[in-house]
Amino acid sequence: MRHFTSVKDIGNLDLAVKEALEIKADRFKYNHLGKNKTLMMVFFNSSLRTRLSTQKAALNLGMNVIVLDINQGAWKLETERGVIMDGDKPEHILEAIPVMASYCDVIGVRSFARFEDKKYDYDEVILNQFIQYSGRPVFSMEAATRHPLQSFADLITIEEHKTKARPKVVLTWAPHPKALPQAVPNSFAEWMNAADYDFVITHPEGYELDPQFVGNAKVEYDQMKAFEGADFVYAKNWAAYSGDNYGQVLSKDRSWTVSDRQMAVTNDAHFMHCLPVRRNMIVTDDVIESPRSLVIPEAANREISATVVLKRILENL
Ligand code: CP
Repeated sequence: MRHFTSVKDIGNLDLAVKEALEIKADRFKYNHLGKNKTLMMVFFNSSLRTRLSTQKAALNLGMNVIVLDINQGAWKLETERGVIMDGDKPEHILEAIPVMASYCDVIGVRSFARFEDKKYDYDEVILNQFIQYSGRPVFSMEAATRHPLQSFADLITIEEHKTKARPKVVLTWAPHPKALPQAVPNSFAEWMNAADYDFVITHPEGYELDPQFVGNAKVEYDQMKAFEGADFVYAKNWAAYSGDNYGQVLSKDRSWTVSDRQMAVTNDAHFMHCLPVRRNMIVTDDVIESPRSLVIPEAANREISATVVLKRILENL
């Protein structure tokens, strides 16, 4: 593997999950691969799980790790070519990227959607600049449109807990006070479609995702109907994608908050969320604390998905 930005980079999902479970059983097995190799993790946005799990994955593989928080202590970066840099950004990303690359062997990047320009976000300008100008393998630690390390961990978690070959998996929109990117639901949809589960997406009208991610999923606007017989419920908020509403909060309807009411019509479904989660907005205390909640094992599997991805990148260096 050279770069890791979406499900297409991981290849056969059965083999990837098998490799993940092998690594989970012996996570230091490939400790020799990272000797004298350095991972640089570049964060344009905050993180708890991605920062810690990716760092742990690199340590599992014997790598050294450098972390840079662009907005805390680094120079503010200009990202557009042609800008007269007489403002508050003293460094251009086109110098910063090759300089950063000169100190490492592999680069992880977190750069969320800005909601200022849909094309800029969906073209993945920042992530692609790292791929184009670093000369290093680059992997996404959540970019504007996808969060593949999370989705891979979600897939591993479902495979560990499913009791039938093709479970019913429901992705449900849930309310949130702020506008959140579509990266997690886009990516989750992409991986669930690739896994060929019985996959349903439910959200209020106006929250349609980019059709390239919806793929063959069934879209059901009635949340209770969508939940019927579900084996896994994956809750997430996202802001509107379509048209002039891009990046807008159209609803804070708390009847969409996942509670015992909706879970009662499922097939005793497991509850999933990528975290961080706003309790009693996205999900009630009772559901997230229930024995069917997988939010902690799901987060723990972030170490495993990152270890598989870094291992494959190191094998290809
Ligand atoms: N799920 C996830 O990516 O968490 P962080 O934003 O804390 O990294």
